[in-house]
Amino acid sequence: MDKIVISGGKKLNGEVEISGSKNAILPLMAASLLASGDFTINGVPQLRDLKTMANMLRIIGAEVVVENEKMKINTKNCNCFKAPYELVKTMRASIYVLGPLVARFGEAEVSLPGGCAWGPRPVDFHIQGIKKLGAEVELENGYIIAKAKKLIGTRINFDIPSVGATCNLLMAATLAKGTTVIENAAMEPDVTALVEFLLKMGAKIDGIGTTKLEIEGVDELKPTEVNAIPDRIEAGTFLVAGAITGGKITLKNCEISHIEAIIEKLKEVGCEFTFGKNEVTLIAPEKIRAVDVKTTVFPGFPTDMQAQWIALMSVANGTSSITDTIYKDRFTHVPELCRLGAEIKLNDNTAIVHGVQKLKGASVMSTDLRASASLILAGLVAEGRTDVLRVYHIDRGYEKIEKKFEKLGASIWREEGGL
Ligand code: UD1
Repeated sequence: MDKIVISGGKKLNGEVEISGSKNAILPLMAASLLASGDFTINGVPQLRDLKTMANMLRIIGAEVVVENEKMKINTKNCNCFKAPYELVKTMRASIYVLGPLVARFGEAEVSLPGGCAWGPRPVDFHIQGIKKLGAEVELENGYIIAKAKKLIGTRINFDIPSVGATCNLLMAATLAKGTTVIENAAMEPDVTALVEFLLKMGAKIDGIGTTKLEIEGVDELKPTEVNAIPDRIEAGTFLVAGAITGGKITLKNCEISHIEAIIEKLKEVGCEFTFGKNEVTLIAPEKIRAVDVKTTVFPGFPTDMQAQWIALMSVANGTSSITDTIYKDRFTHVPELCRLGAEIKLNDNTAIVHGVQKLKGASVMSTDLRASASLILAGLVAEGRTDVLRVYHIDRGYEKIEKKFEKLGASIWREEGGL
């Protein structure tokens, strides 16, 4: 297994191009199953999760080709409506094919994703929602088996906003008979990007960017072409890298409105910003101030930046508390950061971080995608050598991260071998 090695202590400086958003592209790929024909998604990075979704679409019968960041999907010959356990267990977002398959083909057999590295992640909203839309659903041998001659518009009100369930049921509702209202819908940019894509396909949806989506089902949708939105979590990760190393970094191809909560927190920390068209420059202070963070749904501070924020606070001046209200067990990076010398105590879903003068390099283990990012960030400031093992997690969601950091002046490389 590959590992990433960092010789810490370099200030980062320069420009970095932000890639297309994995979490926004995944539902677009699934949405291509809603119509027959040729789709194009531009700005698609080489990421393991996107390859997994491409393989999922191929199993269903679609052709998927990616060249020069252009993904072409042809959905004319889809004839297998099963998402097998072997793929779903490697990527939970595979469940996105449930809604489109039932809506267009009347049937789907999708493996239940099971747990996640940091704890349970239920899919009950997806299942309840597709049932409310009129599908007959059975759970058999670890699979969700859903059937419906025609989905029927309904009212769905989530207890808490879910990005995945909003996207899944939104896709399903576009081909349902009548009107569907989704209340307490997630407002993340990934959902908005999907709504825009579906509108281009001919769907009828009101309430874009709000918590109430109203979908009037249509008989048929048509293929389309779209540009992927920039990855706000990759953008946030590079901003934190600039801050933690005391550097100056310009992000190119970023959407400022998607990262405002992160920028506001970084301002509190002492960073200064200048803004251009689709770009932002961060200038780090001499010393990072300790700043509390609570993750919430968009436009709040994202849970996908919680691990990176803890890394930053590990070297801040003072004590901070970081609470994750979305995923309450998502703290597997904490003991690994402590191996680098961080002082962090966990109290339920809150991490209390006492900033230290210095982190010291060590071997640490990635446990999931964002945890890996936080360990790399810590490695960038740790004294000496840090080996981040099991780096396949990072390849799920960050394209060539070590190359991008190297271009910014970090001493970082990938090595084969390790646990
Ligand atoms: C997506 C993102 C993930 C991010 C998360 C929250 C993708 C591929 N993944 O995950 O990176 O961390 O949003 O922004 O886009 N919930 C239920 N039942 C359900 C579904 C969700 O209880 O059926 C709960 C979850 O446990 C969680 C909350 O709802 O507490 C939000 O989860 P959700 O927005 O669904 O996350 P994902 O879409 O899985």
